[in-house]
Amino acid sequence: SPLRSLAEANQNRYFGTAFQTFYAADDRYTSILDTQFDQFTPENEMKWEVIQPQRGVFNWTGSDLVIAKAKEVGGIVRGHNFCWDQQTPSYVTNITDPDELKSVLKEHIDAVLGRYKDDLYAMDIINEPLNDNGTIKASVWYDVLGEDYLATCLQYARDAAPDLKLYINDYNIESVNNKSIALANIVKGFRANGVPIDGIGFESHFIGGSVPKDLQASMKQFTDQGLDVAITELDVRVPVNNAGIANSTWLQIQADDYSTVVQACLDNGNCPGVTIWEFTDAISWIPGVFAGQGAACPYGLEYEVKPALGAIASTL
Ligand code: XIL
Repeated sequence: SPLRSLAEANQNRYFGTAFQTFYAADDRYTSILDTQFDQFTPENEMKWEVIQPQRGVFNWTGSDLVIAKAKEVGGIVRGHNFCWDQQTPSYVTNITDPDELKSVLKEHIDAVLGRYKDDLYAMDIINEPLNDNGTIKASVWYDVLGEDYLATCLQYARDAAPDLKLYINDYNIESVNNKSIALANIVKGFRANGVPIDGIGFESHFIGGSVPKDLQASMKQFTDQGLDVAITELDVRVPVNNAGIANSTWLQIQADDYSTVVQACLDNGNCPGVTIWEFTDAISWIPGVFAGQGAACPYGLEYEVKPALGAIASTL
């Protein structure tokens, strides 16, 4: 059975993938995309630099394709993202006046959610806000607006789309450590002060053999506060040769890792689903960013099935 059907049968969870619409007309890509998944995240198409590259100039092409795909196959979309320190154009990052920055942010959120609020299930409103030591990361948002930017960004989103599930999404929070503890404390403050927040995204860009043993405990830091925790960008990178190929030992370790992460979601009643950050090694961002590592997805460079695919299916 397709992953999506197995996930649906498991307390109505979704099984999703990042979608690069550059491949929207590539049959090898879409034959898998259309059948295995019922949740899609625009891999880049909804990022600020893509969707509003100049002030007042919107490019809806890619994001419209993601929404259309979800409608075509009967799936849902997680939006991604508004406030981040990356992939944000310089007309935004050069702003130094707080009121000006807030009005540009509100304009952006109102435009994107005005168009898509009925088409999105959830959205990573804030992306990667923390440093590993738990402090807030430098960005135009933090530098100009201070810590309040977190609440401001969330509130603008709530005002524009009252039914949208609002997420903060980050990496290295998948174990109980300084970063996840700091985020849990921020969320606690939000809950006490009426700042809107519905979920936390655990990106889950893992290294083969190194899925944190306390992944489930880290999820509980948030689900015990009444939030959802979704696995939002799962991939498992392993050592590869010059051709981008991993050996069978690593592929089996990787399969076990995928299974562990899927099981952690299934074991938590407030984990709505798992999203992998691309399903094929042919497109994965990993080799371009982590030298000597790759082969991070359940399908290979030639779209062949890898052990991870069967491991996910049998865990679901
Ligand atoms: C990555 C995309 O996969 C790449 O195509 C792009 O060049 C850079 O961004 N964390 C995130 C994602 O939240 O948006 C990033 O996606 C991967 C890390």
